Amino acid sequence: MAARQPGAPTPVSRQVPVPAPDLETIVSLAKRRGFVFPSAEIYGGFANAYDYGPLGVELKRNIREAWWRSMVQERDDVVGLDAALITNPLVWVGSGHVANFTDPLVDCKRCQRRFRADHLEEGAYGEVPRDANGNPLCPYDGGELTEPRQFNMMFRTQVGPVADEANMAYLPPETAQGIFVNFVNVQQSMRRKLPFGIAQTRVSFRNEITPGRFIFRTLEFEQMEMEYFCMPPRDRDNPVEYLALHRQWVEERLRWYIEVIGIAPERLRLRDHDKDELSHYSAATTDIEYLFPWGWGELEGIAARTDFDLSSHAKLSGQPLTYFDEDTGQHVVPWVIEPAAGLTRTLAVVLLDAYSEEPDEKGEKRVVLKFKPRLAPIKVAVLPLSKNDALRPTARRVYDMLRPLWMTQYDETQSIGRRYRRQDEIGTPCCVTIDFQTVGEDGQPGDDCVTIRDRDTQAQVRVPISGLVAALEERVPRC
Ligand code: GAP
Repeated sequence: MAARQPGAPTPVSRQVPVPAPDLETIVSLAKRRGFVFPSAEIYGGFANAYDYGPLGVELKRNIREAWWRSMVQERDDVVGLDAALITNPLVWVGSGHVANFTDPLVDCKRCQRRFRADHLEEGAYGEVPRDANGNPLCPYDGGELTEPRQFNMMFRTQVGPVADEANMAYLPPETAQGIFVNFVNVQQSMRRKLPFGIAQTRVSFRNEITPGRFIFRTLEFEQMEMEYFCMPPRDRDNPVEYLALHRQWVEERLRWYIEVIGIAPERLRLRDHDKDELSHYSAATTDIEYLFPWGWGELEGIAARTDFDLSSHAKLSGQPLTYFDEDTGQHVVPWVIEPAAGLTRTLAVVLLDAYSEEPDEKGEKRVVLKFKPRLAPIKVAVLPLSKNDALRPTARRVYDMLRPLWMTQYDETQSIGRRYRRQDEIGTPCCVTIDFQTVGEDGQPGDDCVTIRDRDTQAQVRVPISGLVAALEERVPRC
């Protein structure tokens, strides 16, 4: 097989990739069914800000828990952390964000609108007009653009009543730095030996000015990051074992998206950063990309950050951020692999990837969100066949039995077919139906059995209420 060129993407599957459904379909479903709302819509909304509705909150919680389970609970070499959001601003000096966390911005000389120069080139505004030399012009009015100027993407805020520079603080643009500044605290309190990781899920903030594309790029977003600390390589210039560890994490993270989150492998690919794309301290970075409706885009970056962060914070703070290696009797600065995922961006991908249109039992179109059962916001719907008073007590009894075990919804309005459609559209894996055979009619006793209807196959099986929990446990994990 021919060697892959640096920077060339690795397709995960040989199948021809089919992009996820168009964004408008998902944005509209997300709003209509209570996943994601444009923020402050009654005031005209706010660019790049979204609110998560009742089902969005559950989906986000389930993705976060799936990540935590895989990265912390099921491993014995990773522990968790929840560091303060607003902290000493020197953290952001030490990390290099104050000096370098910038994007090139250009202004339209006519309408004064501002754009990220790289996003204009990457097609975030579609096909932009150009001048005779091929330079981009304003996508709104064709006006001439200024030369790019570097603009820091961190939000600033003030702590205390006086708004001066001395009281200035930053909103965190990533979760990673809270981990680095706590490296010694965690290592010593938990008596950890290298290699080990520290994981954190938390909100981050970036002053993003490029609009659109739903929750792909927002001002405020949640990240799921882990810093995996290991022994420094024997040869800094040729860190073979370190790069092998990086590759292992790339494979592990890709596996997570496919096996745990259920993303179609043909819509995922790996992209190694070119040498000129890498930060000066990075030994390698690989992005996991998803085939969005507008093309391939980053879902997660796995960076080999060397010892850059610990060394920089140690230098600025004057505090050693080292590890005592008992084997050699030496203090070393660990090297780091960082798998950095976006929780809210993953939620967008989960919605896009789960969307499916197919025939229902009657051959009519049904929309189904085919979430992995673990991710589904509602795991079970309890549906009495009709609003008839004879069905309600048993249906409520079943509902009360299931609610402590799973996120369960009770629905008795409209026809049973319409209610199945509603549950399909929000991705509920199991519907439990209570009918007259369950409760009995015309003086005949009921069989105390209910029907479980499967979201994907639409197959129905009858089980006794006494065996319902066990039957559901085979289909949906408890959470
Ligand atoms: N600590 C490394 C770091 O923050 P990053 O590539 O800038 O790396 C990691 O961010 C992930 O966070 C991205 O792959 C993406 O999923 C998510 N992300 C970054 N900026 C985002 C934004 N403005 N809105 C939503 N998600 C974002």
